Amino acid sequence: MSDIIPVPASIASAAYIDKAKYEEMYAASVENPDAFWAQEGRRIDWIKPFKTVRNVDYTYGSVSIKWFEDGTLNASANCLDRHLAERGDQTAILFEPDDPNAEAQHITYRQVYERVCKFANVLKALGVGKGDRVVIYLPMIPEAAYAMLACARIGAIHSVVFAGFSPDSLANRINDCEAKLVITADGAPRGGRVTNLKANADTALKHCAASVKCLVVKRTGQDIAWSADRDSWLDEMEAGVPAECPPTEMNAEDPLFVLYTSGSTGKPKGVVHTTGGYLVFAAMTHQITFDYKPGEVYWCTADVGWVTGHTYIVYGPLANGAISLMFEGVPTYPDAGRFWSVVAKHKVNTFYTAPTAIRALMGKGEEIVKKHDRSSLRILGTVGEPINPEAWRWYYEVVGDKRCPVVDTWWQTETGGHLITNLPGATPMKPGSATTPFFGVQPAVLDPGTGEELSGKAEGVLVIKDSWPGQMRTVWGDHQRFMDTYFQQYPGTYFTGDGCRRDEDGYYWITGRVDDVLNVSGHRMGTAEIESALVAHEAVSEAAVVGYPHDLKGQGIYCYVTLMADREPTEALRTELQNWVRSEIGPIAKPDLIQFAPGLPKTRSGKIMRRILRKIAEDDFGALGDTSTLAEPQVVDDLIENRQNRK
Ligand code: WTA
Repeated sequence: MSDIIPVPASIASAAYIDKAKYEEMYAASVENPDAFWAQEGRRIDWIKPFKTVRNVDYTYGSVSIKWFEDGTLNASANCLDRHLAERGDQTAILFEPDDPNAEAQHITYRQVYERVCKFANVLKALGVGKGDRVVIYLPMIPEAAYAMLACARIGAIHSVVFAGFSPDSLANRINDCEAKLVITADGAPRGGRVTNLKANADTALKHCAASVKCLVVKRTGQDIAWSADRDSWLDEMEAGVPAECPPTEMNAEDPLFVLYTSGSTGKPKGVVHTTGGYLVFAAMTHQITFDYKPGEVYWCTADVGWVTGHTYIVYGPLANGAISLMFEGVPTYPDAGRFWSVVAKHKVNTFYTAPTAIRALMGKGEEIVKKHDRSSLRILGTVGEPINPEAWRWYYEVVGDKRCPVVDTWWQTETGGHLITNLPGATPMKPGSATTPFFGVQPAVLDPGTGEELSGKAEGVLVIKDSWPGQMRTVWGDHQRFMDTYFQQYPGTYFTGDGCRRDEDGYYWITGRVDDVLNVSGHRMGTAEIESALVAHEAVSEAAVVGYPHDLKGQGIYCYVTLMADREPTEALRTELQNWVRSEIGPIAKPDLIQFAPGLPKTRSGKIMRRILRKIAEDDFGALGDTSTLAEPQVVDDLIENRQNRK
C-alpha cells in the first residue's frame, strides 16, 4: 500500500479542473474525441479555421497522423501577436542570468515581439525561407526563444541542439536535417564557467556542407575565430532589417520543429512535431497541468535543448500569455540555494524541475532551502524520470511546506506534452506515481511477451491506444524508422518504450525504459551511441554499455570494453576513454564506470547477452539465469571477478 496525499482544499476550490470535472471531461475526451478536440482546438488562433479534427491511422505500414489538417495558423503569432492588445506590456520572458549579481531582465510581450520580427527578417536576409531547417545551438538566453519563434514566424523548421553537445553531435544533427544555418553564441556562461560555443560550432561546421551559414549572438564578448564569408553577428544584421515581419500562414501539419532524441539503435532520430496539434496540446497541458492563472510567474528549469524547454518554457507558456522564467545557470552556483533564491527573488508561483536536481539538492540539507522565502510557490512539478518517493517527500515537505501539489508529469520527446500526470486540483497524489492519464490519452498495459492487453492491476509495457494532438508525426527523413520504432512491436498502438505498473486505484507507475535507452539525470542516452563512440577509439575493439542504479543520476553509464590485442588496460586508458566519450558526444554521456573485459558474453550466434551485463553492473550476479546458451560461459567469471560496481 502506498500513501495517498489528498489535494489541498485551497487548491481544489480554485483550480480549473477538480475531480468531478476531470472525470466528466476525461470520459468526453475518449468517448467523443472529435467533439472534444474540436473545442480544445479553438484555444489557439487560426488564420483559416479547421473543419477536420483528426485523421489517424495506426496501422503498421501505413501510419499517418494528422490533426486539424485543413486549418492554417502561425505559431509565433499565437505566442506573441495575439497577446499584444491585452498584455503587450506584461513580462513574457523573465531572464535570470548565470551571474547572480547581473540584473534580471523583464522582457515584455511587445519587446519579444519586436525582437522576433527583427530576428525573422535577419533569417530571411540570410536566405532562410519556409520549410528550410535552422539549427539553434545556444545557451539559455532569451535569444534562444527569439530564434525559435523567428523560425516559426517565417515557416522555417528549427532544430535546437543542447549547448552541452559536442561538435560531433552538432555536426551530425546539422547534416541529418540538412540545415541551411546554425545559430550560436560566442560563449555560454554556466555555473561561473564559460563554454566556447562558437568554437564548437566552428569545429562542427568543418564536417558540414560549405554552404551552411552561421549567425552569432553576442553573449560574453569573448574573442572568437571569424569566417567572413560564413559568419554574421545577429546584432549587426538586426540593425539593417525592417522592424515588422508578417507571420507566414502555415498549414496545421507543416513541421514546426525537429528535435533529436536517442533511440535504442543507431544514431539519434529527428522527432518531427507539426504546428497545429502540437501548439494546441502544449497550450492546453501547460494551462491545465500547472493550473496556470494569468499573471503568475512560472518557472521550468529545463534547457531549451530538450523537449521540456520547447513545450514548457517557450510554446506552451507563451501561447497562454504566461510569464515564463528562463534561467541561464545551474542549481548549485553560486551555492546550492540558487533555485530557492530565484524563487524568492522573482516570487515564483510554479516551479517545474527534474528528480535528479531534487535529489542533488536534497543532499545539501534543509537549512539552505529554508533560509529562502518560498511562500509564493503554489504548484511544484517534476519530469524526466521516475521520482523516488524519498525525493518526492522532500520536495513536497521541505520545498513546498506541504502546501503545494507536486505534479508528476510523464511524457516524452515524442509525445509533445504531458500524457500521464496528476492535475493539481483533481488528483490525490501518490509519491512516485505519475497517476492518471491526461484528457484524450488512453494508456494500456500489455504483456511484453504476448502483447495481450492486461486489465486492472497489472505490470507490463506501456502503450497508448489512440492519438493525441501533440504526437510526433514522423522521424525526419525516415518514416519507416518511425513505424518500426513505435508501431511495429504492438500493432495498433503507440509503443512508448517504457515499462509500467498500474495499481488497484488505476494509477500508473512508470518503471523505466524497457529498451536500450538509458535515463541519465533525466537525459536520454542510447547505449548504441555510447558504444559507437567507444569503438571509434583506436584502443577499443568492442564495447557494450548498460545502465546501473545511481543515487543521484537515476541511472549511471557502465561500459564493458574489450581492448585491441596490443593494448594494456591501465587507469590512464580508463580516464582517456571517459574523456573520449565526453568529447565525442558531450559531458552528459561521460561513462561512470568502465570495466576492461577480455571477452563479452555472447550467444553462439554472436549476440551480446545484455541481460547478464546488466545484472553484473547492478552487482546482482547471484541471479544470472540461464547462461548455458553462451558460446564461452567462462567469460562471465572474469566479468564478475572484475566488476566495478561493488556495493
Ligand atoms: C522518462 C522528457 C517517469 C520515461 C519529457 C520517458 C519519466 C523518457 C517521467 C522520455 C516521469 C519522463 N516519470 N519517467 N514523470 N518523465 N520519463 O524524451 O522513461 O527526454 O520514456 O522526454 O523519460 O524522455 P524525453
